[in-house]
Amino acid sequence: MNKITVVGAGNVGATLAQRLAEKELAREVVLVDIIEGVPQGKGLDQWETGPIEGFDTRVTGANDYGPAKDSELFVVTAGIARKPGMSRDDLVKTNADIVKAVSQEIKKASPRAIVVVVSNPLDVMCWVTKQVTGFPRERVIGMAGVLDTARYRTFLSDALEVSVEDIQAMVLGGHGDTMVPLVSYTTVSGIPVTQLLDGKKLDSIVQRTRTGGGEIVNYLKTGSAYYAPSAAAVQMVEAIVRNKHRVLPCSAWLQGEYGLKDVFLGVPCKLGAKGLEEIIEVQLTDAERAALKKSAESVRETMGVVKL
Ligand code: NAI
Ligand code: 2OP
Repeated sequence: MNKITVVGAGNVGATLAQRLAEKELAREVVLVDIIEGVPQGKGLDQWETGPIEGFDTRVTGANDYGPAKDSELFVVTAGIARKPGMSRDDLVKTNADIVKAVSQEIKKASPRAIVVVVSNPLDVMCWVTKQVTGFPRERVIGMAGVLDTARYRTFLSDALEVSVEDIQAMVLGGHGDTMVPLVSYTTVSGIPVTQLLDGKKLDSIVQRTRTGGGEIVNYLKTGSAYYAPSAAAVQMVEAIVRNKHRVLPCSAWLQGEYGLKDVFLGVPCKLGAKGLEEIIEVQLTDAERAALKKSAESVRETMGVVKL
């Protein structure tokens, strides 16, 4: 890819830009933020890592979208992060205004770009982005499921004392307390996890996954997680840039899939050069289907708070 722009040069955005450069996923990575000097300083610092880490990606920073013009892909991390005691939905009004402004700029700077949204509340911010840019659903995709699944896999690997590499799993639903870890599809090298862990232990892992973001906020106190979130967004970007057709849990605009319509929700998605290539519908248990519906209702409720 020629150019990727990361909007928001805070914890997630800056870490993400560095990861994009280290993987050389674009010739140029542009960091855009409203704070004067910060994207420029972080960008230059990262660019100067190139000779040590061995990458030729140029990282620059700006307070406007001039340098972002004609980016093929944007990652939107602009907004405020959670503080202790704050739910993701508390962020909604502030971040909706920010994401609205950012989306207008993206539309002007690069009307054909693909947008990966990270700002919270994630599923609602995806909707704001889609509505304001007017981009088709193939080009507006949200990052949450890859992160939530990584947390789930980490806790499973710890409990089972096996490599994370051998744990296949997917967490669907909205990025919030109503997320839906698919226990029925969780396997360890093909072995159903229900044969390896008892129900009580599995329930506690599912619960820890649901509150995984809050667990980190409680430690950090002044912000939220960013190492795993940035890695998760980069995995999605890499699938697109390298046209890998990866199947990853992402937030996508549903049009009847899973019996749900006109809502962004985490579902299994195939990602490639065009962005969202396909939403894969898998069979769910009655309980999982009900949980997904409940999660969609919670996303819709938060959408109701936003005035576009
Ligand atoms: P942060 O506070 O470190 O960085 C946010 C940056 O956005 C700041 O540098 C701020 O100046 C910038 N910003 C604010 N308004 C802007 C605008 N109009 N244009 C450009 N930049 C603007 O926060 P952090 O930790 O990087 O998190 C960013 C967002 O990502 C938060 O909303 C957070 O909740 C969300 N997040 C989502 C995750 C997910 O799984 N989807 C995981 C982790 C974070
Ligand atoms: C997380 O899950 C806060 O959404 C962010 O870490």
